[in-house]
This record gives sequence, C-alpha cells and structure tokens, in this order.
Amino acid sequence: MEVIIRPNADSAAALTAALIAKDLKANPKLVMGLATGRTMEQVYSILIDLHKNEGLDFSQSTTFNLDEYIGIAPEDKNSYRYYMNERLFKQVNIKMESTNLPNGVAEDLVAECLAYDEKIKQVGGIDFQLLGIGRTGHIGFNEPLSSFQSRTRCKPLTPVTFAQNSPLFDDPSQMPLRAMTMGIATILESKNCVMLATGAEKADIISKAVEGPMTSMISATALQMHPKCVVIVDEPAAAKLEQREYYDWILLNEPKWEEFRNI
Ligand code: F6R
Repeated sequence: MEVIIRPNADSAAALTAALIAKDLKANPKLVMGLATGRTMEQVYSILIDLHKNEGLDFSQSTTFNLDEYIGIAPEDKNSYRYYMNERLFKQVNIKMESTNLPNGVAEDLVAECLAYDEKIKQVGGIDFQLLGIGRTGHIGFNEPLSSFQSRTRCKPLTPVTFAQNSPLFDDPSQMPLRAMTMGIATILESKNCVMLATGAEKADIISKAVEGPMTSMISATALQMHPKCVVIVDEPAAAKLEQREYYDWILLNEPKWEEFRNI
C-alpha cells in the first residue's frame, strides 16, 4: 500500500484522475473498475476535461462498475447506471456497449451476478480499479462481514450506509436496502488499484483501513493484501493516520511520484 496525502479534495481528485489518464494513455484498451458516489464526481469531471481538452481517448476501453442498487432500473435517475451515463460515459468517447454495471432489476439476480463475474473474467480481469470508501469501510457495497474471497453477489446494506446514501434520493425512504456488488476477491485481483477518500468524515475509517488489523468487519482492510494499491487522501481524511510522517517520507524519496508532485 502507498499512502499519498494531498492538501485538499481537489488535488486528491486531480491526482486520482492523472493516474487513470496515465494508465489509459499507456494502454488504450484499459479495463477499468469504476465507483460512484460523491467523492468520484470531481474525478469524472477532470477526466471529461482531459478528454475534451487533451484528447484523452476512451474509445477502446472497457468499464465495470462496482455496484448497483437492487430494484432500481437502469433508466431511474437514482441508479448507478444513470449516474455513470450522466457523469462520465455520455461525455467522453467510450462505446456504451463497453460499459458494464450489474442490472438491479434482472429477473434472476444470482444469474446476473455470475454473468457479471464471467464477463470480467473473459476480458482478463480489471487493469485499474478505482475505489471510494464508505463509513462502514465498505469498498463497492462490500459491507461488514464480506468475505475476502467474495465475488459479485447481493448484499444487504447497513443502517450506516442507508444514512450515508439515502439523502441522495429525492425521497430518502426509497433507497433500497440491498445492492449487488463486485466481490473483494475480484477487487484484489485488479492489477492496479486506487482508493480515494476526502473529507473529515472519512478520517476514522481511513485510519482503520490503512493502519488497523485486517478484518472482514472493515472490507477496505483487505486492500492491505493488494500488491499495488495507492490510497489517496486529502488532509482532513488523513487527520487520524498515526504514521503520517512515514508516508510523507516515503513519498519524498520515491522517484516514481516526481511527475505528480505538483498536482
Ligand atoms: C459506490 C461505491 C461506494 C462508495 C462509498 C463512498 O459505487 O463503490 O463504495 O465509493 O460509499 O461514497 P461517497 O463518495 O459518496 O462518500
């Protein structure tokens, strides 16, 4: 794991977008694992700018989102499919048929989950996995007690996640209590992985995810086993990290971060 602390949320998002852009330029056929949520909005808006102003090319890339609410149709504006279409896919040159999210209204949800994993397998797995973190420590919707060997499946959402996300619904009581989520095993198999967290309300869970013991009660701790995981946080989200000086020292002495120092 590498921990990169940026002064504010904008520079944390800019660094995250720069890492995605770097990998996409190096491999136009990049398979990206994508997240939704408030934290990612700025990342996607920077990627759109890079596409419009610098020609960042998405035409050969493929995406797999982490999750979708069960019972919410793709065209519903509360769906993660709708979020992705509006906030990224429609604004860059990706082919819609190369974008994948689980279908929350599939007739057979178990079959839908199995097919999702099969499709990921067929393209050779995820090259670049983008992650946020929820207040329960979930990545995707891998809520507490998720097995580190889990694959795509249906998961009940916790009251904490309900409180976190229901205000995003016009009528908060309409937020589903279950979701489909990519599993932790698939996330751990990604070749590169970046987790972005910003804001003081993430400080507690970030310190547990990075420095705490690994436990299925906090799914993000599984990332300690990922061979190439970068955790990008802003100052408020870094506030409870005990080894902060060490992370800064590593960064100063690591040449590979030189080109990103001014972001
Ligand atoms: C959603 C997802 C979630 C979010 C997390 C943080 O696709 O993967 O794990 O990343 O709930 O959400 P925000 O950014 O809204 O705090």
